[in-house]
Amino acid sequence: MYRRTFLTAGLATLATGGHALAQMKMDDMNAMPGMDHSGHGMAAEPAKPAASLVLKEGETLRELPRLANQATETGLFRANLVAAPATAHFAVGVETPVLAYNGMTPGPLIEAFEGDRIEIDFVNDIPGEDSTIHWHGMPVPADQDGNPMDPVASGATRRYAFDLPAGSAASYWFHPHPHGKTAEQVYRGLAGVFLVRSKADPIPAAYGDTVLVFTDLRLGADGSIPENSMVDLMNGRVGDHILVNGQKNPALDVPLGAKRRFRLYNATNARFLKLSFGAANIVVIGSDGGLLETPVAVEDVLLAPAERLELVVSFDKPGAMQLETLAYERGWMGPGKPDDAGLALLTVNVSGAAGEPMPPLPEKLRAIAALGPTAINRRFVFTEKMGMGASGMEMGFFINDVAFDMKRVDIVAKAGEVELWEVVNKADMDHPFHVHGTQFQVVEHERDGKVTAPAYRAWKDTVNVAQGETVRLLLKQDLPGQRMYHCHILEHEQLGMMGIVDVTV
Ligand code: C2O
Ligand code: CU
Ligand code: CU
Repeated sequence: MYRRTFLTAGLATLATGGHALAQMKMDDMNAMPGMDHSGHGMAAEPAKPAASLVLKEGETLRELPRLANQATETGLFRANLVAAPATAHFAVGVETPVLAYNGMTPGPLIEAFEGDRIEIDFVNDIPGEDSTIHWHGMPVPADQDGNPMDPVASGATRRYAFDLPAGSAASYWFHPHPHGKTAEQVYRGLAGVFLVRSKADPIPAAYGDTVLVFTDLRLGADGSIPENSMVDLMNGRVGDHILVNGQKNPALDVPLGAKRRFRLYNATNARFLKLSFGAANIVVIGSDGGLLETPVAVEDVLLAPAERLELVVSFDKPGAMQLETLAYERGWMGPGKPDDAGLALLTVNVSGAAGEPMPPLPEKLRAIAALGPTAINRRFVFTEKMGMGASGMEMGFFINDVAFDMKRVDIVAKAGEVELWEVVNKADMDHPFHVHGTQFQVVEHERDGKVTAPAYRAWKDTVNVAQGETVRLLLKQDLPGQRMYHCHILEHEQLGMMGIVDVTV
């Protein structure tokens, strides 16, 4: 066992010539995290959860407040979103300073219809920091998509305006994307749901439509949200409490025999959520980019950071049913590996008395045409690297051996052309890969020479690429401009695992 001790706890992310690196000092070169996954005695790891802070469990699941539409014309959604410091009450009797949209974390839910025009006036009231609003997964023009290249300065206002095309109904979300600050602004509370609905939704209304947004909270002993540690920067920040709509293990009552539609959002920085629903039967009906072609029955689901799923869950047995986490090996460097199996995220209490009979789920939800033929093949290789730099150990996350540079275009694509992207993970942990501005189709996974097809065709904007895995996907950008592609472990994005595709007409 190597001795590993950090000399400094004041670890920082430094931007040097466009390369962001996590820097640390050690008294021993052998103490390289990643060389050994057991991890003992390393400093600068996240503080242990504050035992005195109690988060209430079992409260009724709250519905996220809707952002009110201020427009009076039909087909127009107009509202303001203000990002600013606020106070949240997560633990009993404790105030936690957060960042919030319109005073709320998660932010208010935006609900609009296909064909609507959206106009959001964004006010950045975060002291001393740039911000943006990125419309994750949505087909919005590049200059309206809150890229790091288009910062909104502290104190400034800008309007984001775009139209929601036909066929775009899906479970999207929004979050900040300022250079070097995305991870922090998200873990401090900035994220919200953007639901685009279709007027011809085939899912029976009797199932309801319940949004479940997962966030990952860490509280220091004083109730504040601590900064990222070195371990957080390496692995992505994993908190102490997975919250659902801002609540810990809330409760939902349903009658026996109920079917419920749930939209699951992984809005955590870095938590991989493998989930089961106890004795209840789960059917997947939708992915990041909307409904599947047909419902697919599953035992459990894996929801990587930034992914979404729509499920229909049947509650055919009385009693308490828990949405709970299962073990998942996502790869971990250094100490502080979270023990994250067996956490109850939501408790559904199924009554003994049967409710109204439920209409059946249709067998056909919609058609998804296969993308093709392809005009070009591209390859993206993920690596993590560590080495001695001027100020100690440096860790970086790379795509095709380079770290993100806002002034560099990595690839040039043509609008309307289908491309095959091969994403190769040669690193020691899973990296969820995300592309802005469009939805793609995963065509195959390859691991240890074994090629498998996905269980169903789906529109996605984020796909997990496991350690040692290669994922091939088909993608087409319809709108011109610069788009980001990156790992959605937000600390990895910050440390370089991001690139720019310039889409030309
Ligand atoms: Cu959720 Cu660059 O995005
Ligand atoms: Cu995005
Ligand atoms: Cu990553």
